[in-house]
Amino acid sequence: MINGEITTSYKRILSNGISIPEMGFGTDIAQTWRNSSNRVTKIYRRTKQYYKLVKSKNFKRLKVDNSLPKIVKYAPKLNCRLFDTSRAYGGSEYVLGHELKGYNRDDYFIITKLSNFDQKNKTVKEAIISSLEQLNMDYVDLYLIHWPQTDTYLKSWKQMEQIYKEGLCRAIGVCNFNIHHLEELKKVAEIMPMVNQFECHPLFTQNNLIDYCNENGIQVMAYTPTGRMDFRLKRNRKLEIISKNYNKSIPQIILRWHMQNGNIPIVNTTKLDHLRENMDIFDFELTNQEVEQINSININSRLRYDPDNCDFDRL
Ligand SMILES: NC(=O)c1ccc[n+]([C@@H]2O[C@H](COP(=O)([O-])OP(=O)(O)OC[C@H]3O[C@@H](n4cnc5c(N)ncnc54)[C@H](OP(=O)(O)O)[C@@H]3O)[C@@H](O)[C@H]2O)c1
Repeated sequence: MINGEITTSYKRILSNGISIPEMGFGTDIAQTWRNSSNRVTKIYRRTKQYYKLVKSKNFKRLKVDNSLPKIVKYAPKLNCRLFDTSRAYGGSEYVLGHELKGYNRDDYFIITKLSNFDQKNKTVKEAIISSLEQLNMDYVDLYLIHWPQTDTYLKSWKQMEQIYKEGLCRAIGVCNFNIHHLEELKKVAEIMPMVNQFECHPLFTQNNLIDYCNENGIQVMAYTPTGRMDFRLKRNRKLEIISKNYNKSIPQIILRWHMQNGNIPIVNTTKLDHLRENMDIFDFELTNQEVEQINSININSRLRYDPDNCDFDRL
């Protein structure tokens, strides 16, 4: 319990028995780098400098988003206790470590990831230790392989099993793995991933992959869960009608749809009001028919990188 304010429990149980919140906050600030000048990009990649920069008076002049520390600090008070980061998300690990210091370690759930760079250039143990240093924590709750880099992911997985056994993380999993990656993994794995985090939203519902994960005891975690509020969702007639029925916004309807489908959505926002809104989805329930209507919006439209067709070195 944090200052007596947190009331909800960790609702989902992973295959190794640990519990995890049913909804989370994604802290990818890489988007901000791309919008910024080269100078800012360089500063962003150095983690502590990023933190000092966003806290500095000069920051406004640089015109890049500085909302992350404020949102992270406030999030647990809104019962948002799952935080998704990565070694590839610039200073976000450092921000989490810094802003969550005042809370009990048991009251938040940290996910970080083995970046593509580290997968090629470090051992998995070296990579997680460097993340733990940034986070200022002794363990992470969930450690994920960020992308199925063709030549390295099977070898990395064997090392992931090792760091799990050593207690550096409470659970292990993968991101962006398609069925064929998971089938390859099965051949060498002693422990199967507890989570697969991948792109999923009403424009791209990934039914086959979700069925496969459910059949194999792998918890689905949905990234880009609101489809970045793409105009095709903002103006979708079915969503508009359901939204009016419950007096909830379209993002709230979409996040509730994820939860009722068994996914853990990790949504990003730069606005506290949006975070408050996104966490306020526990007082209504969609009917099966409404869930089906939202399922039917799918047009297999991927908004992010395709793990079977991308340049891992540039992610
Ligand atoms: N494993 C991977 O390879 C991978 C890849 C991509 C993403 N991720 C994770 O997933 C997280 C989320 O992904 P994402 O940012 O691509 O997609 P997203 O969370 O679906 O979309 C974020 C966008 O939606 C808007 N939004 C959020 N809540 C809103 C609300 N209540 N009302 C209106 N607009 C709202 C935000 O704008 P405002 O700022 O204005 O609220 C922001 O522009 C990332 O931060 C990261 O942690 C993982």
